[in-house]
Amino acid sequence: MKAVEMKNITKRFPGMIANKDVNFDLNQKEIHVLLGENGAGKTTLMNILYGIYNQDEGDIFINGEKVKIKTPKDAIALGVGMVHQHFMLVHNFTVAENIVLGCEPKKFGFVFDKKEAIRKVKELIDKYEFNIDPETKIEDISVGQQQKVEILKILYRGAEIIILDEPTAVLIPSEIEELEVIMKNLTKEGKSIILITHKLKEVMSMSDRITIIRRGEVIDTLNTNETSIDEIANLIVGRAVDLNVYKERVQILPEILKVKELKAKDNRGLDVLKGVNFEVKSGEIFGIAGVGGNGQSELVEVITGIRKCYDGEIIFDGENIENLTPKEIIKKKLSSIPEDRHKTGLILQHSLYENAILGIQDDKKFNKGMFLDYKEIRKHTLNIIKEFDVRTIDENVEASKLSGGNQQKLIVGREIYKNPKLIIAVQPTRGLDIGAIEYIHRRLIEERDKGKAILLVSLELDEVLSLSDRVGVMYDGKILKVLERDELDEQKIGVLMAGGNIDG
Ligand SMILES: Nc1ncnc2c1ncn2[C@@H]1O[C@H](COP(=O)(O)OP(=O)(O)O)[C@@H](O)[C@H]1O
Ligand SMILES: [Mg+2]
Repeated sequence: MKAVEMKNITKRFPGMIANKDVNFDLNQKEIHVLLGENGAGKTTLMNILYGIYNQDEGDIFINGEKVKIKTPKDAIALGVGMVHQHFMLVHNFTVAENIVLGCEPKKFGFVFDKKEAIRKVKELIDKYEFNIDPETKIEDISVGQQQKVEILKILYRGAEIIILDEPTAVLIPSEIEELEVIMKNLTKEGKSIILITHKLKEVMSMSDRITIIRRGEVIDTLNTNETSIDEIANLIVGRAVDLNVYKERVQILPEILKVKELKAKDNRGLDVLKGVNFEVKSGEIFGIAGVGGNGQSELVEVITGIRKCYDGEIIFDGENIENLTPKEIIKKKLSSIPEDRHKTGLILQHSLYENAILGIQDDKKFNKGMFLDYKEIRKHTLNIIKEFDVRTIDENVEASKLSGGNQQKLIVGREIYKNPKLIIAVQPTRGLDIGAIEYIHRRLIEERDKGKAILLVSLELDEVLSLSDRVGVMYDGKILKVLERDELDEQKIGVLMAGGNIDG
């Protein structure tokens, strides 16, 4: 008996078909991955199963019985639970309070029984090895921990069929491993899981089966142990994809950035950069590997002028730039693709053409003293849209309306169009589908081959390894070691990332 069967599901939105005659089924106790590019229709299909949307055509069966799921309440009653891409937690409540919110245990029939709530929550935490303290507040825990709370919440409501929509997009490697353990424990206890993710390596290690959706249609369902990353990558995109990165030999060009004994404090006033040293040459990609939270974000903030340093030097193109303003630094031809495209990469409620000149709005080309030359700005924007394959109707669309991959292509295009000497790329492909990842990687390599310098900061070790010519491993506010191209080895870097030593 299948846990879930969705038969001939069709869902239309104004002007488009999001799911077209989709057949999907979930076995008992299996982990089934839904794969597809951004906009393929994965979330829509799961929103139908969870009662957020209703299908226009087709039937749903749960444990062999035909059911009508009109609302999430119906879905929960049938044992279906969903964790969304964006969390919905109350920040000044504790973990336990969030989990029981809406179905609190009551004393004497009406008083909130806090003790009982904590006891019940602890039971779930231990059973599935969640490794989280029920009495801490949400605002004090990491994103990875918050996600656990979301999963606990649906378990508390009796979910047997669990939908996780891109849970790993926001996690660091150690949190992904923890999630993997939790998922295995859940299936051991009889739960069935539908997982949406873009990370093919995890798909291969975590799942039993894979269903691939392209433009609203199911392309195929495969057994994970009978397929390969290359095969599924090709099925997702609908053409041959080459995930290998090909590069010209590195040219030996002069040094463009030198960071010397750099020291800075974090937002709480604690030392976060404790004497960082490295240099980047033109024509190379210098990667910084490391577990999140070892000072990578602050390092980039200091180099780009967003955060002050209190000691050390940053020499860019022969000049000291430490503690200049972001604007002054951009003028010196240092570009950056920021970590958080929503917070600092784009102004979401503005149009694409306004976003396309962010940071260079004072450039003489666009700013004619008294007025902005909109004709020139639009031309510039259309060039970026065309060259970087930003899928949009036109340049007037609000940035928030684009998918994540297309937003990122706009940012990458904007930064490359500034014709910089150095591009700092922070997590440039986080959360993107493989079509977009392949494209962005290719463009970064192209810039490198033209003789530009690239400083790549990424928590994805695979990304650092495949793109970089040299890699510095960051740990506890320092670059522990710089590895040359021929020394790049996943195992060695893993040891360094954990603060270990590889010499002798
Ligand atoms: N509420 C909605 N109204 C109109 N269009 C929508 C709505 N939700 C999703 N879509 C569209 O349906 C398509 C599939 O979206 P979605 O299921 O979110 O894709 P995925 O999760 O695979 O990235 C997209 O083109 C998206 O813009
Ligand atoms: Mg989605």
